Amino acid sequence: MSILVTGGAGYIGSHTCIELIKAGYSVVVLDDLSNSSREAICRIGGLVGQEVPFIEGSIADRSVLQHLFSNYQFSAVLHFAGSKAVGESVSHPLMYYRNNIGGTTVLLEEMARAGVKQLVFSSSATVYGDAPNPPFREDQPLGQPTNPYGKTKLFIEELCRDVAASDAQACGGPDNNPWHIALLRYFNPVGAHESGRIGEDPRGTPNNLMPYITQVAVGRRPSLSIFGSDYDTPDGTCIRDFIHVVDLAEGHVAALKHLSAMPGCTAINLGTGVGYSVLDVVHAMEAAIGRPIPHTFAPRRPGDSAATVSDPSRAKAILGWATRRTLADMCTDAWRWQQANPQGYGE
Ligand code: NAD
Ligand code: UD1
Repeated sequence: MSILVTGGAGYIGSHTCIELIKAGYSVVVLDDLSNSSREAICRIGGLVGQEVPFIEGSIADRSVLQHLFSNYQFSAVLHFAGSKAVGESVSHPLMYYRNNIGGTTVLLEEMARAGVKQLVFSSSATVYGDAPNPPFREDQPLGQPTNPYGKTKLFIEELCRDVAASDAQACGGPDNNPWHIALLRYFNPVGAHESGRIGEDPRGTPNNLMPYITQVAVGRRPSLSIFGSDYDTPDGTCIRDFIHVVDLAEGHVAALKHLSAMPGCTAINLGTGVGYSVLDVVHAMEAAIGRPIPHTFAPRRPGDSAATVSDPSRAKAILGWATRRTLADMCTDAWRWQQANPQGYGE
């Protein structure tokens, strides 16, 4: 079965391509390389022992999509493509609405035109906003994301729900090719492929915790600032549900396998269900590299919530999927990637 992977040169998409190919799917990647490198595609090919078909182009480009849908018989689309930097979305909201929402709208239109109505979308725990009392369940009311990036995830989820619901209205009942959409809500993906060949390669100063820590560890940055030490948590630092990117990739394969049994639109958390604090991660990385990570405490970062943890039981029940890798695995693998590629794919 052939799968179109939008954003497949990026961090999560590249790891997912490997797991898809290992599971027997054939994969075509569409990516505009706005936040990734062609080198990632070459390395995926090296790891799976076959060349991965790659088209450089945008999901917003109708002619590229029409070309792809007429040249390949896709059974589904895995849709990772989008812009994801929270700070940039605050300074450039229109760019985020155009690329994420505009791009997804064009993609869905062209999927419908081609009769390809199976979609797995990269959503985010950000749709829970700053809801209190984790763990978060898919059936609880959604929150209010504090930034345009988060709002694009919420709006695209709504868009997908409306599109899936429109089948029944248009046909007076489910048609014989209804939409099947999985909205996968990722918690905090970290780590890298165990080979150390592919991993997270943020441009400029990392915004997220794990790439910042590994860049301190490899000597690219002097010290980590821990944002906030006075939260109402056991050690005062924020708690997150960190998930190994390969577990996350396996979650996509599971979603794809079960998609045809999920008509309509289904939201599913992908997380471990276990929260670790920022200090826990620092200590786990110190254990992985065998020396201290220089760090200081800094004021809270605006928009951060004290604790974000998934309830992963729906993923277990529907997909038969659960995470297998530990925080130590996440640190060891992130460090192997960073050590082997101190400048990411840039070298
Ligand atoms: P990434 O930036 O590494 O990957 C996204 C890829 O999409 C990049 O390769 C980029 O070049 C490509 N892209 C962007 N706009 C495009 C367009 N218009 N057409 C074609 N390609 C385009 O990000 P990632 O961390 O791999 O995230 C993948 C998806 O998961 C994103 O939608 C992101 O919002 C979502 N997500 C990520 C996280 C996380 O922590 N990394 C958490 C929750 C959700
Ligand atoms: C952030 C985004 C979220 C996005 C996700 C993945 C915000 C408020 N949330 O999630 O919308 O989906 O990234 O891209 O930006 N930390 C430090 N020092 C650092 C970096 C981070 O102490 O240098 C702390 C943060 O304050 C937070 C924790 O580490 O408490 C995790 O941060 P991060 O990796 O950015 O993820 P989120 O904030 O959970």
